[in-house]
Amino acid sequence: MGPTPLARIDAVKVVEPDGSGAPNSIPVVDLFSGPGGLAEGFAGYRDAAGQPRFRIALSVEMEKSAYRTLLLRAFLRQFSATGFPSEYYDFLNGDEREEPDWAKLHPEQWETACDETRQLTLGTSAATAFLSVRLPQLREQFGDRLVLLGGPPCQSYSLVGRARNAGNADYDASKDGRQLLYQQYVRALRELQPAIAIMENVKGVLSAKHNDKPIFRHILQRLENPGGEKRYGLFALAPPLGDGRCNHKLEPRDYLVRTEDFGIPQSRHRVFVVCVREDLEPAVSADTLARISQRME
Ligand SMILES: C[S@@+](CC[C@H](N)C(=O)[O-])C[C@H]1O[C@@H](n2cnc3c(N)ncnc32)[C@H](O)[C@@H]1O
Repeated sequence: MGPTPLARIDAVKVVEPDGSGAPNSIPVVDLFSGPGGLAEGFAGYRDAAGQPRFRIALSVEMEKSAYRTLLLRAFLRQFSATGFPSEYYDFLNGDEREEPDWAKLHPEQWETACDETRQLTLGTSAATAFLSVRLPQLREQFGDRLVLLGGPPCQSYSLVGRARNAGNADYDASKDGRQLLYQQYVRALRELQPAIAIMENVKGVLSAKHNDKPIFRHILQRLENPGGEKRYGLFALAPPLGDGRCNHKLEPRDYLVRTEDFGIPQSRHRVFVVCVREDLEPAVSADTLARISQRME
């Protein structure tokens, strides 16, 4: 008996809520996007009226396959309300061997997707030149009602990565450029002055050192004061003490979110720092603080 054929993917059942963004939805800029999971969560969020509250305005990623995922998702989100193009299902179902030429089939949506996603290596002059034009454009277009996301690379912070580096006699953390890529995020924070910024990282960032100094406290200082006109108040999502405010009362480990505490069947531990622009801080109600710092019983 041969293998059981895979079920065909039914075009009608896989219709997502419209992720292309309502007119007043809040634009999101996602750096070090990977395949875009974090921003995808924002794009998928709906308010009580079922309207999308956020739309992805820009994603930047250097790695080709992750970038291709970003690009395809940016393209497909534009069809969310009506259902994805039939050629997409034909391709998934193996009816078409080659990925369809989306640029030919749906030029307008493809162009929008290409504009939203960029395959660039942050820290290079090409990426810096691009952002120095695009970030001011976004500010001009949307004002300061923006969200910045980003997970600067984790390989050199991750505990596995550090164990691997420790076995490499030639490895010198002070020369590892990946340790300093958070500076690209801080630079975007300074130039964009978003209302909110969220920095995500692996647990290893809490104990990582650069030039023998703990890097995480330094990152927190740079997020609080990225060097431009605006400062930021830093919040932890799930601090054990519960009041959500940092400002040196919380310890680095308080920024750690343990997914198993939130009913997720996975023990993934990630660091999240939520930066709220200081002029907006008074608007963050005690209710919200209680909610963002609450754990499941
Ligand atoms: C931890 S992943 C981000 C995951 C993402 N936030 C998500 O939710 O899917 C970090 C990503 O940063 C990318 N990256 C590393 N260095 C980069 C650089 N200099 N410029 C752009 N992207 C970079 C890596 O290729 C990787 O995909």
